[in-house]
Amino acid sequence: MIELEGVTVEFDDVTAIADVDLRIETGEFVTVVGPSGCGKTTLLRTIGGLQEPTGGRVHIRDRAPERAQTAGDVGFVFQRHTLFPWKSALENVTFLRSLAGREPNEADAQALLRSMGLEGFENARPDALSGGMKQRVAIARALHLGADVLLMDEPFGELDEITRDELGVEIRQLWRRERKTVVFVTHSVPEAVFLADRCLVMRGLPGRIDATFDVDLPEPRDEAVFGTRSFQEQVARVRRTLHESYD
Ligand SMILES: Nc1ncnc2c1ncn2[C@@H]1O[C@H](COP(=O)(O)OP(=O)(O)OP(=O)(O)O)[C@@H](O)[C@H]1O
Ligand SMILES: [Mg+2]
Repeated sequence: MIELEGVTVEFDDVTAIADVDLRIETGEFVTVVGPSGCGKTTLLRTIGGLQEPTGGRVHIRDRAPERAQTAGDVGFVFQRHTLFPWKSALENVTFLRSLAGREPNEADAQALLRSMGLEGFENARPDALSGGMKQRVAIARALHLGADVLLMDEPFGELDEITRDELGVEIRQLWRRERKTVVFVTHSVPEAVFLADRCLVMRGLPGRIDATFDVDLPEPRDEAVFGTRSFQEQVARVRRTLHESYD
């Protein structure tokens, strides 16, 4: 379980997030939407122990996030992939795990790459992969790390819409198999609804959680969900709240 109590992050003259209370259950998939600059990345970095709060407390399973992070219990996927250019796809996946002091398992890493549609590209270097393929490697890498908590900051930001939809379906299916705790930031409202058990709308500045939506969609979720009335209504509801937060 992730718990934030009164978390505030102040930079020199900006309060990026103010007094945020949030509780995320183990195995929950939470998405975060909000206007640019409202503190989403700051919130994610604070949960992951990359940013120290100036006020309040964060716990990941009763531990400080820095400790969870150095123990390899938190995986990150950023908007721009951060693969090592001189390593192959497979080496990128296994290397992070070994950095965390865990024994990498090449067969598992290969199976993960396969499940992300990357069979045959195990030995390719990032330069030889498309943007979407690189993001898949970054996601496989975060999964191979074996972290219970996955923090994803606009991981599909640079991808075309069709690839985004496909990866969204894959991520939700992977989550159903692995039941990680996921916090996923996106600018796409349909993506936020499709992926989530719960969608948070943030408003800034200072950043705070303005509204929370429990998403109700059938499982397993696939492309057919996009066309359903229930999905469209839930997207419209989140979008209305989001528009208000731009005022
Ligand atoms: N390291 C930093 N030093 C100073 N100010 C910062 C720092 N990081 C973020 N900020 C400020 O905090 C605020 C929130 O930034 P943040 O990156 O969290 O927003 P965001 O919601 O992720 O935006 P976007 O959707 O554009 O990625 C902004 O005003 C930003 O300028
Ligand atoms: Mg951001």
